[in-house]
Amino acid sequence: MKRVRIALSGAGGYGGFYLPYLLENKWNLPMEFAGVVEPFAGRVAACRTCEAHGVKVFDSLESFYREREADLVILACPIPYHAEQSLCAVAHGSHVLCEKPTAALPADAQRMADGAKQAGREIFVGFQLSFTGPILALKRDILAGRYGRVLSAKCMTLWERDFAYYGRGSGWAGKLALPDGRPIRDSVASNATAHYLHNLLFLLGGTMETAFPAQVEQAELRRANRIETFDTCAVRLTGPEGAPILFLASHATCGNLEPVFSLRFEHGEVFFTQNGTPRLWAVTDAGETVEYGDPTTEEETAQKLIRTVRWVAGECEKPPCTVPTTMPFLHAMDAIFTDWKAEPYREEEIFTDEFKGRVFVPGLYERMVERYRRG
Ligand SMILES: NC(=O)c1ccc[n+]([C@@H]2O[C@H](COP(=O)([O-])OP(=O)(O)OC[C@H]3O[C@@H](n4cnc5c(N)ncnc54)[C@H](O)[C@@H]3O)[C@@H](O)[C@H]2O)c1
Repeated sequence: MKRVRIALSGAGGYGGFYLPYLLENKWNLPMEFAGVVEPFAGRVAACRTCEAHGVKVFDSLESFYREREADLVILACPIPYHAEQSLCAVAHGSHVLCEKPTAALPADAQRMADGAKQAGREIFVGFQLSFTGPILALKRDILAGRYGRVLSAKCMTLWERDFAYYGRGSGWAGKLALPDGRPIRDSVASNATAHYLHNLLFLLGGTMETAFPAQVEQAELRRANRIETFDTCAVRLTGPEGAPILFLASHATCGNLEPVFSLRFEHGEVFFTQNGTPRLWAVTDAGETVEYGDPTTEEETAQKLIRTVRWVAGECEKPPCTVPTTMPFLHAMDAIFTDWKAEPYREEEIFTDEFKGRVFVPGLYERMVERYRRG
């Protein structure tokens, strides 16, 4: 059996999700850990752990390739490096599992797709829901016409984020671009809650490998934090046959609400909540309840790694979340950033919570919940 040689780029931050699996091989995957790329190794504790396990740390992907080879490169580095590192990896003959969002701009993602095609390699994108059994089972039922035509869809996530979140890593959070001009476009919509809009577009895609290219009709973008982009959004898009899609997200509410989404169809409704016991289910007009299970368990969340490694090893079918799958999400983000302006909340609307080291907008949580209820 082929052992997949894996390199991980970005060991701090979300790289910490992959590290235990790569070091301990909990899922018994046919793989070996070929190296870590981390330019700030001195201040990333995870690099000490890797070295203690005999895994060498390199300061760039190029320096990794000067010494080693990889069948798969996992990119958990900041967004502005996704395109250049993906292109570097495929040019060296590696497949890529790139963390979401694919890139800051659709044009960069297109370069990634073109580079992969030219090199005969694949770039998967780590929108983890799109790799899970429950979401894929639901999508198969939607495509088979079990619920009929979609009439509307909506999702909402309200996650408190503090000053430390915006100051983390190499300081790219909430920014439009790096000092050298490389685009980032980091926001509540394009980063932390990106999963949930992409997931709706993915569920409404015409095939297992595609997402629906929804048009952005209206975007209300606000910020309470001192950032360049926005920490709160209410976005309306047009789905298949004009079905409205509503995307609500904020890092500036007082209180957390874990992700919820629902899709209304001609013959039933699909619901998801990550609050309490996470659950994805549908209720048909005939009164039948269809349980799809929990797409957020540890093992489901790890499916993006498990399925990608098994595919590279030639053991399973290709997972359906590659760069082209994510283009509708990226075009929606591009429309939001290009056509709509983020407005700061007025000083008197913002409360500074000194204890939690964050700001929030009193009453915003309740307004968002009411907006979601209205649809
Ligand atoms: N799938 C998910 O649920 C999920 C969750 C969180 C973050 N992410 C994604 O992971 C990526 C990283 O986000 P983060 O929040 O961990 O960022 P971060 O800044 O907290 O951590 C990024 C790490 O990459 C390192 N790094 C910086 N420049 C690098 C370079 N040129 N090459 C290699 N490594 C470099 C940093 O030193 C740091 O260790 C983003 O694309 C983000 O959207 C995904």
